[in-house]
Formats: sequence, structure tokens, C-alpha cells
Amino acid sequence: MAAATDGTVPALRVAVLGCGVVGTEVVRLLTTQADDLAARVGAPLELIGIAVRDLEVERDPAVDRSLLTTDAEDLVTRADIVVELIGGIEPARSLLLRAIASGAAAVTANKALLAADGPTLYSAADAAGVDLYFEAAVAGAIPLVRPVRESLTGDRIQRVLGIVNGTTNYVLDEMATRGLELDQAVKQAQELGYAEADPTADVEGFDAAAKAAILASLAFHTRVSLADVHREGITGITADDVSSAERTGHVIKLLAIAERTDGGVIARVHPALVPLSHPLAGVRGAFNAVFIEAEAAGELMFYGRGAGGAPTASAVLGDLVSAGRHRVHGGLGPSESSYAALPVLPISGALTRYQVRLDVADRPGVLSQVAAVFAEHGVSIEGVRQTQDPARSVRAGEHPEYVAWLIISTHTAPEEALAATVRAVSTLDVVHRITSVLRVEGA
Ligand code: NDP
Ligand code: HSE
Repeated sequence: MAAATDGTVPALRVAVLGCGVVGTEVVRLLTTQADDLAARVGAPLELIGIAVRDLEVERDPAVDRSLLTTDAEDLVTRADIVVELIGGIEPARSLLLRAIASGAAAVTANKALLAADGPTLYSAADAAGVDLYFEAAVAGAIPLVRPVRESLTGDRIQRVLGIVNGTTNYVLDEMATRGLELDQAVKQAQELGYAEADPTADVEGFDAAAKAAILASLAFHTRVSLADVHREGITGITADDVSSAERTGHVIKLLAIAERTDGGVIARVHPALVPLSHPLAGVRGAFNAVFIEAEAAGELMFYGRGAGGAPTASAVLGDLVSAGRHRVHGGLGPSESSYAALPVLPISGALTRYQVRLDVADRPGVLSQVAAVFAEHGVSIEGVRQTQDPARSVRAGEHPEYVAWLIISTHTAPEEALAATVRAVSTLDVVHRITSVLRVEGA
């Protein structure tokens, strides 16, 4: 960018789309940190407009109402850098594409859009020769996208495993520490502003799956979309599952896992038992943490606030400074790297350990019948715990027949073999019910 004849560098015009939880904090930082940001970018950042849906909504005093507009389409064509904080697919995608086509750099926190249609944004940015940054789309404030996309790009990442949804981590933590049922903990998360009025995206794992898709794409230089990610939420988890996990030395976490296997890449999101000794077990409340295993770097762990206005705005501002510097000094951030194009495999190919809880008749020979089914399916049992539940005893004929609670832990087994084992075990007469089947990770 050319300096004016008096030596000053013209301001970069910044448009912010969305003035909600994150947008408000971005606007605040743009105002309060203006001098520092100008020094870091090499030019002042001039906020030229803030697009919203409704001009009448009450706003934080940090927001200059004269900058608000409902005409986002016009706003994006007048900016050097467009920051998209609306969320969802449309109109966010069309607005970003319009901004890029008119030569603006794009910064977004929109994981849903990137996971659904990232390649369209990448190729538009490539064609226009502009930056596309999205640090805030995964794990809020935690620098994670840049380390994977840039710092580790000389290494070979094998596995990414983490807690990337703060709402569900808060819910599971409350269930574990305060004995709450899931719906009570979700209600509490809503009251504290962690969960949305409609918490589906969080509790059903969609938010974490979008982040898993983004991380898998970056880590393995392969296009992985939301549809490629196996997804299970936490709605099936009960207070009983949580307390049983604790009795076996585990805690339940909603994990996002992306791994390189012999045949390709597998990305999955599901609740899992994590040993209490594992660092992820200690991630409390709404915090996020992500483990990365890379061939040369070894194990790395990233930890911090994965959500919230100010933490997320921190990541957005980092991207804004990077894009701004490129405008002033030249250069471009990384473009899409999908050269490896590894096959994206279903979860049936995943290898993991399991814990199966079941209620069985407590009489001679039951354990051997159950164990035989595991053996028939090639699933190796690592350990069995049995406790009797007198409260749930039933009478069979003349003799009392007690119900035993079994917890069977397996060695690593293929997903398909375990599923077949559970189906077969559930048909045995001596098995009253399968209480839960959970994967064990991080052991
Ligand atoms: P909010 O729902 O709080 O805010 C959305 C904003 O977008 C509102 O200001 C709304 O306007 C505006 N908006 C909605 N539709 C339109 C439209 N058609 N045209 C113009 N403006 C519109 O969302 P968040 O701030 O929570 O999230 C923003 C993005 O950041 C999302 O992609 C989200 O996934 C991501 N993110 C959020 C995090 C968080 O902790 N909240 C963490 C990490 C990422 P109005 O105010 O008038 O209703
Ligand atoms: N709803 C997300 C969470 C924050 O609870 O982590 C946005 O990514």
C-alpha cells in the first residue's frame, strides 16, 4: 500500500458483519486498542460499518450506533478487510464471497460454514489473491489453527484429540462434580450464557464435529467436511454413566478426534471415558484443550477458553492484524492445502478400547457365557468388575435371582467387532440389559 505524500499510510477500511456476542467485543477492541493495532499493522484500522439484522436492538455502549447498517451487501464492497461474525451458512457465505470478489481480505469465526463449504471460500480467496483467516473458528481464544496450518506444516501430524466444545464440557463437568442429570446441567449452562436457547448444536455434537472437520483438513492436508465426521452427542449420557465412570477411574468427555490410519483419515466426535490421570480429564468448566501428536514434535497440548465474546475476539483481532499487515507490507497468508487428498474413512475402521456396562443374572456360568461372545468376535477383554445390586434383585421361581452389574473393559478392538459383540451379548437370556457402551480414549 502506497504512503501518502506526507508519509502517512492510509487507513485500512474494516467492515464487521454481526454485532452479537463476538462482534461486540471485536468492535470494542478495535476502538480501545486502536493505537496499538495501528502500530502493529502499520496503518490505522478504520471501522467503516457494522452490519446487523435489526437496527433497533439495544447494543453495548462500545458500539457506535451511527456505524450500524442492515445493508451488509453494500458494506462488504467498500472494505479492505471484512470480518464475518454472523454465523451459519447464509447470508454469511454470500457476503464473504462478495467481499472476496471485490478484493477484501476475509476473517471469519464461522466453523459451520468452513466445515460445510470451506473449499468454496478458499478457492474464491485464491482467485482474488486475498487472505482468508479463521483462527476463531476452532477453540475460540486458543491459538490452534495457526499452529496447525503454519507452525506444524513441516511436520507430519498423526492425531488430534481434544475437547473443543465448552458448553458440553461444562455440562459434563457439572454432572461429574455436582451429580446433576444432563437436562439440569444444560439448563444451568443456558442460564450462564454458555449454551444457546437451542443447545442442539452443542449437545448433539454438531459444533464439535465442524471443528473436527476443520482440524482434520488442516492437519492432514485433505478435504474433510462436516458430513465426513462421525458424530455422537452427549444426550445419551446419564448421571449414572458419569458416576460409574468415576468408580472405574475415568471421567466422561465429549472428544473430537482426527487421526491418520493406514488407509486414510478418520474424524469422529463422541463422548468417551478418559482416565483421571490424563491431562484432558482435568479440563474443567467451559475450557477447551487439544492434544496434537506429530511425528517430529511429539505431543503438544493447547489449552484455554474456547468460547465467549472477549476470548473469541482475541483470535479475530489476531487474524485482522495479520491480514492488515499483508495489505500494508504485501504478502499473503496460507491458502488451502489439500494436496494429500487422503481417503476419509468411516468410524468402522477406528481402533479403540471400550467399556461395556451390563446387568446380568448373578448365577454360575453367566460370566463365561458373556466372555465367550467377546471371544467369538475377536474382542479381547482387559478386565471385568462385578458388583451386586440388591435393590434391583428379581425373584426367579423359588430362588431369589440377583442382578449383577458388570463392567467389561476391552483391549483395543475394531469398532465393527465391538458393535457385533454388543449385539450378540444383548440377545443372551442371562443379560437383562446393556446399560452403556463407551469408548475409552487417552489411556
Ligand atoms: P450472535 O448470535 O451473538 O450474533 C450474531 C450477529 O449477527 C448479531 O449481531 C445479528 O444481528 C447478526 N446477524 C444475523 N443475521 C444477520 C444478517 N442477515 N445480516 C447482518 N447481520 C446479521 O453470534 P456470536 O457472536 O455468538 O457468533 C458469531 C460467530 O462466531 C459464529 O460463526 C460463531 O460460531 C462464532 N463463534 C462464537 C463463539 C462464541 O463464544 N459465541 C466462539 C467461537 C466462534 P442482530 O444483533 O441485529 O440480531
Ligand atoms: N458453542 C461453542 C462452545 C462456542 O460451547 O464451545 C462456539 O464455538
